[in-house]
Amino acid sequence: MTKILVIHGPNLNMLGTREPEVYGSDTLESINQTLIEMAAEKEINLETFQSNVEGDIVSCIQNAGTSDTHFVIINPAAYTHTSIAIRDAFLATRIPFIEVHLSNIFTREEFRMHSYLSDLAIGIISGFGKYSYLLAFEAAVIHCKQSSQ
Ligand code: DQA
Repeated sequence: MTKILVIHGPNLNMLGTREPEVYGSDTLESINQTLIEMAAEKEINLETFQSNVEGDIVSCIQNAGTSDTHFVIINPAAYTHTSIAIRDAFLATRIPFIEVHLSNIFTREEFRMHSYLSDLAIGIISGFGKYSYLLAFEAAVIHCKQSSQ
């Protein structure tokens, strides 16, 4: 059974109340629930993880590399722009991933325009609010299907 892990970085636990004009009014729980329902329809095992701690995200990626996880969808949040440790975890595990952002990071402050992960990602989806995650899920399913052929 295909297994997809969705990782949410710091402050995404506050979705719903956090800058709704930028990130929308959906909560993280409701986004996760939608993803779980979409996965169940396709008989895909989908797990979610959120942490505000960089090292915990690194450990989560390392664990995914040694378990039966096929693909990661990650919104690294602010760690996108700072974390060599998360970059190195993806280099170490070689687990394929899509980078997701609710907002369009290229229309915001200059410091958000650089990502330590984008060049390692299969692709990036940015700017579609909660639909960034849902689109990433569809793309992940296509990628997993293609690589199992
Ligand atoms: C974000 C964009 C980041 O720049 C920011 O630090 C976040 C959320 C997004 O989903 O749009 O926390 O990753």
